[in-house]
Amino acid sequence: MSPALNHGQTSHGLRGDYSRMRADYTIDQDHAAYSDEEHDRWRRLYRRQIGLVEGRACEEYVRALRSLDYEGGIPRFEAVNERLLAASRWRLVAVPGLVPDLAFFDHLANRRFPVTRWIREERELDYIVEPDVFHDFFGHVPMLFDPVFADYMEAYGRGGRKAEGLGALRWLARLYWYTVEFGLVRTPAGLRIYGAGILSSPGEIERSVTSARSRRVAFDLVRVMRSLYRIDAYQETYFVIDSFQQLFDATRPDFAPLYRELAALDDLAADAALTGDRVVPPGA
Ligand code: PHE
Ligand code: FE
Repeated sequence: MSPALNHGQTSHGLRGDYSRMRADYTIDQDHAAYSDEEHDRWRRLYRRQIGLVEGRACEEYVRALRSLDYEGGIPRFEAVNERLLAASRWRLVAVPGLVPDLAFFDHLANRRFPVTRWIREERELDYIVEPDVFHDFFGHVPMLFDPVFADYMEAYGRGGRKAEGLGALRWLARLYWYTVEFGLVRTPAGLRIYGAGILSSPGEIERSVTSARSRRVAFDLVRVMRSLYRIDAYQETYFVIDSFQQLFDATRPDFAPLYRELAALDDLAADAALTGDRVVPPGA
């Protein structure tokens, strides 16, 4: 999931059913209402993607994914919650689709991860712009099992509420994009993926780590916050962290002074190459 901001969406038509939603934008998952075709679509998406993530996704992700049994069909959020609560005190809640930024931040700040209920249509198996249950589950949920990443997500939610008050969401949204959605991490075994937008995409897994057509740059908070991004194509730049602890520590300080600094700096194009960039070679 996905507030308007983290998937770069703002004002286009929303596709979920928002008619039965509660004040906090949650709904019942109503697992019994998924059709056989929908479960079948899930199984095909799952089988394709599981073969791609091995050896490309970070260890924390692969370990959690293996321990979860997603293979049989669209998972029951309640069943996953028992394990997730025990692992990291996070809980999944069902939402109809994109939710307003503040509602999203509030969920994160309280260690609740909003998961979209609907699954993509047959004709969009390869690419969707809005998050669906496959993206949210396959991409995001395994990472919530990692204790440090789990704390980062909560801190992000609190930071979001603050950024909203300071008119700083455009900068903070880029941090989410380039970490939670499209982040890479350097490990002893090589460059690995932890970003959900990559992990749930059939084409971007290989490309993000190996292609010479994209750039990989060592994580730098201000650099990330200045960088525009594309929501409708493979990323031109990926930012690489050394560990989740590094990410957590780099984002721990109060961002208020940083936002004042950013106000005086230009945005950078998604494919910008700066002399100060520490470039990470593909597959490193
Ligand atoms: N330290 C940030 C702030 O003061 C909070 C934050 C943490 C934001 C982690 C994003 C990610 O706003
Ligand atoms: Fe997402």
